[in-house]
Amino acid sequence: MVHALSQLNPCYSLGMDDLRPPKLEVYRDESVARDYDQRWSGALGKKRDVRKAKAICQAFDALQTHYPEASLRSVLDIPCGTGRFSDLFDAYKCHTIGADLSIEMLQQAQAKHPQHDFICADIGRLPFADDAIDVGACIRMLHLVHSAELRIRFLKELNRVCKYGAIIDYRHSHTVRIFSRRMRFRLGMYKEDPQLPSPRQIQCELQQAGFKPLAKINVHFAPLLSDKLIFPVISNET
Ligand SMILES: C[S@@+](CC[C@H](N)C(=O)[O-])C[C@H]1O[C@@H](n2cnc3c(N)ncnc32)[C@H](O)[C@@H]1O
Repeated sequence: MVHALSQLNPCYSLGMDDLRPPKLEVYRDESVARDYDQRWSGALGKKRDVRKAKAICQAFDALQTHYPEASLRSVLDIPCGTGRFSDLFDAYKCHTIGADLSIEMLQQAQAKHPQHDFICADIGRLPFADDAIDVGACIRMLHLVHSAELRIRFLKELNRVCKYGAIIDYRHSHTVRIFSRRMRFRLGMYKEDPQLPSPRQIQCELQQAGFKPLAKINVHFAPLLSDKLIFPVISNET
C-alpha cells in the first residue's frame, strides 16, 4: 500500500502532539530540509555516510542470514528524511517505502529518487497492517527522542508492522565524546546534557519493544570514540 506524495495528509497525526519531540520538529522547516544533505557533502561527511551505509548493509545481511528461507523484499525506511538511504536496499532487490512526518523532507527525497515511493507517516502510528512490511529501518532518529518511554513506543509500532525485523540506529552514552560533553555540561561549558542511554539501557528498550538484537554493529572502527550503533533486530517472540 503506497500513498503518492500528492495524496499526503499533513494532519495525519493531529492529536498526537505528545509524540513530537522538539528536536524532531525542526525538519518541517523548508530551509532545514533543503540544507540537510550538506552535512554529508564534505570529505569527512562522505566518509561518515559510507560508514553508516556499510553498517546498515551489514545489519540487513544479518537479517537475511537469520532467515535463509525467507526473501526479504520490502523495507520501510522511517524516518527517511531526504532519502539518504533510500536506494541502499535496491541492491537487495527490495521495494523500499520511505516515510517521514515532514513534507519538506519528503519533497527533497522524492526529487532525488523519483522512482521510489514516499509517504507521510508518523512512526508512532503507522498506516500499515500488522506484518505488512518485511523489514523496517529506523536511522538517525532515536537519539533525538529523549524519553525512553517514547523511544519504546516508536519501536513497538515498528515491530508491529514488520514481519521479519528491523535495523535500528541508536546512540549510546559510553564514549569519550559523550563523557567529555557531560563533564563540560556540568561545568557550564556545554549547552545541554547529552541524554543518551547506556548500552545496557538500549538492550532493555529493545527488549521492551519486543525486539531481540542479532548483533551490535559499531558504525565507527574505534568504538570508544563513537556513540553510533546499528542493531539488526528480530521479534523476541520468534
Ligand atoms: C535526523 S532526520 C533523519 C533522516 C534520515 N533517516 C537520515 O538518516 O538522514 C530525522 C527525521 O525524522 C522525521 N520525524 C520526526 N518525527 C517523526 C515521526 N513522529 N514520524 C516519522 N518521522 C518523523 C523528521 O521529519 C526528520 O526527517
